[in-house]
Amino acid sequence: MKSILDYETVDYDSKKKALVIIDQTKLPNDIELLSLRGAEDIWNAIYELKVRGAPAIGVAAAIGLAVLAEQIEAQDRAAFMEALENHKAYLVSSRPTAVNLSWALNRMMQVCYGHAGSTVEELKEMLLQEALQLKREDIEVCRKIGEYGLTLLKPGDGILTHCNAGQLATCKYGTATAPVYLGHERGYNFRLYVDETRPLLQGARLTAFELYSAGIDVTLLCDNMSASLMQKGLVQAVLVGCDRVAANGDTANKIGTSVVAAVAKQYHVPFYVCAPTSTIDFNTPSGDGIVIEQRDREEVSHMWYRRPMTADGVKIYNPAFDVTDHTLISGFITEKGIVSTPAELERI
Ligand code: MRU
Repeated sequence: MKSILDYETVDYDSKKKALVIIDQTKLPNDIELLSLRGAEDIWNAIYELKVRGAPAIGVAAAIGLAVLAEQIEAQDRAAFMEALENHKAYLVSSRPTAVNLSWALNRMMQVCYGHAGSTVEELKEMLLQEALQLKREDIEVCRKIGEYGLTLLKPGDGILTHCNAGQLATCKYGTATAPVYLGHERGYNFRLYVDETRPLLQGARLTAFELYSAGIDVTLLCDNMSASLMQKGLVQAVLVGCDRVAANGDTANKIGTSVVAAVAKQYHVPFYVCAPTSTIDFNTPSGDGIVIEQRDREEVSHMWYRRPMTADGVKIYNPAFDVTDHTLISGFITEKGIVSTPAELERI
């Protein structure tokens, strides 16, 4: 039977000329593919976390922009670029924290600005090819993160992860899960501990699902249980993904990540951030400069419950991400190697 790992997280359908994603809000119960061609549909898919995870958002937006470009009717280059810039600005506004979104869309725009003499039809084809190239690069980057990450782990290790930085958050392998998948192929017999990750349960619904589908030993825990596991010596490393790493190493990732980092420090468990270099934002000096997306109260009070779990009128705090202080991070596992600060990447 086809497993969730046999599906493409993000794809391009050349017959329908559409962006294709798995609707991740339906997982793990239903695997539904969505074909998207409209700007609002693509924006909503990102905002509503039908496609989510920093690298997957970047590639989805890039393919989405190519799909929208193809539908622009202008023959005149200036009019085409104006329409394309509008689509780009709209897609960028869907989620503010993951830097991959603007990074991928800027790279798409550069294709046009770098080919001043090309016709509109040529630009449309180049945009599509760039989006597909971004997807191929994401797979390669994740595989390399996997290889580097594996050098930090031993067979039988207990590994804790938060949220979903898995295949469902990328085009293949994931970032935090890449060392796990590669180790699994090589008989490492890891034990995976997955935080459920309130309020949208990406750990429970997505990470536990994809790791279990791969045949990996996976245990789900509520977000307040990691200290209990670490006290017992069951966790040898924490691996997480990231949405934006500031130049000093402060790291934005799913809300609750910084709690895990603080607990890991307390119990002397190394805490690694798996970071494609596209997620490192050298223009933001520290975590103070990272914009954190605030989300609807219903995600905490209503979603996933048959009846509301909070009395109407109770104030709700619902930031999508938090910033882990760089002093809590043991290292960054990137596709270029393992570094203790982003600045070290310049020397690799
Ligand atoms: O809100 P989400 O589900 O998009 O949050 C995802 C995360 O926080 C991931 O850890 C991060 O994007 C890295 S994915 C490789």
